[in-house]
Amino acid sequence: MQSFTYDYPVKNYFGAGAVEQALAAEMPRMGSVVMLAYGGGSVKRAGVYDKVVEALKGAGKTVVDFAGIMPNPTYEKCLEGAALARHEHVDFVLAVGGGSVFDCCKVISAQAKLSEDIDHYEHVQGKVPTEFIPMGCIVTLSGTGAEQNNGAVITNEATHVKGPFVGALADWAALDPALTLTVPHAQFMSGAYDTLSHCMESFFGTPREANVTDDMNLAIQRNVIRNMRVIAADDQNLEARSELVYDSAMAENGMLKIGKVTDFQAHMIQHQYGAYTHTNHGFGLAVIHPALYRHLAPEAPAQFARWAREVWGATAEDDLAAAREGIDALQAFTAEMGLPTTFAEMESDASDDTLRKVADTAILTGGCVKKLERDEIFQILTECR
Ligand code: NZQ
Ligand code: ZN
Repeated sequence: MQSFTYDYPVKNYFGAGAVEQALAAEMPRMGSVVMLAYGGGSVKRAGVYDKVVEALKGAGKTVVDFAGIMPNPTYEKCLEGAALARHEHVDFVLAVGGGSVFDCCKVISAQAKLSEDIDHYEHVQGKVPTEFIPMGCIVTLSGTGAEQNNGAVITNEATHVKGPFVGALADWAALDPALTLTVPHAQFMSGAYDTLSHCMESFFGTPREANVTDDMNLAIQRNVIRNMRVIAADDQNLEARSELVYDSAMAENGMLKIGKVTDFQAHMIQHQYGAYTHTNHGFGLAVIHPALYRHLAPEAPAQFARWAREVWGATAEDDLAAAREGIDALQAFTAEMGLPTTFAEMESDASDDTLRKVADTAILTGGCVKKLERDEIFQILTECR
């Protein structure tokens, strides 16, 4: 196991009434001007927006509205939010939504305190922001676990890069699973698959031998799979949604990365596929994982076999055969959950030209069992068609 320091400052309010509880406890520390940031309108239709505005205004806050954060948020949108936050002297950013709203707000909160352009600051100068407008998250869609960490994934439309930024870490997060009941079935399953993907990507790093972090990880994977099956049969099952909301948080709060160098190669390929096609994150992962793992399993058969046996009940004695059983089970599960297994099912662009650009620009990760060549990534992507 690697040496580590683990510090976890995000306060989580979980369960029925979490939003009211969080606001009551946190509002005294939120300053007087609160930016209320959200997406395309689901929060208004579900009534969350009115409830939050009423609480903020009741506490005497000035509310600065920042609407229209799109799925796969753009760098332009982050800059727009930061300019507004500066202009209105915002004291606190309250992000209401899913991963896209949280990620955009993490960067808004950092950029508002920075005199330089944050893209240049982080990606050219190699620096990391240290000052932020404090931030809180109200989760209406689970899966990314983005409310639990300071990483943001932002699409730069000009350069076709969907890449990582270091942004603010929320002071607190409110997770009331009932708020996810209005999320369309396919979107909720996409998020749940994203959680499973985060677990797998954390598992397939180093060390590759059994360890306590991975044992917790495998338990969470089994939990995600079990509860996705419940939701597949009974979409509004609140108990299963609750489990999946907590799984989502557990997969990205750092616990499953303790003592590990993680993989995240599937994510890096999906992010670039998303940058060129503007497609759904979880759907892309569902398509890419099995194809990628068929290429990786021969490099670490024992590690893949352990995952296949403990998560999918693979029975083959030979490690590589068991690994392949697990990958087949993953793909069959994807189809069983109604998630896409090919780019064709996603109805997304899979031309040679696009796949070549994705292959040539995807970040190569250090924790991956194999340093992939660009041609092999292109080959993997063609197998996703
Ligand atoms: O925009 P609105 O109208 O709010 O609708 C949203 C959006 O269309 C809708 N939605 C959210 N809550 C809802 C709801 N609809 C009905 N009822 C509700 N309660 O869901 C749609 C998708 O929202 P989005 O936030 O885009 O989805 P998700 O949470 O899956 O986030 C995806 C983004 O997060 C990034 C992805 O790359 C992608 O850009 N990720 C962030 C990570 C992180 N920071 O840790 C990790 C992930 O690996 C991921 O890369
Ligand atoms: Zn993800």
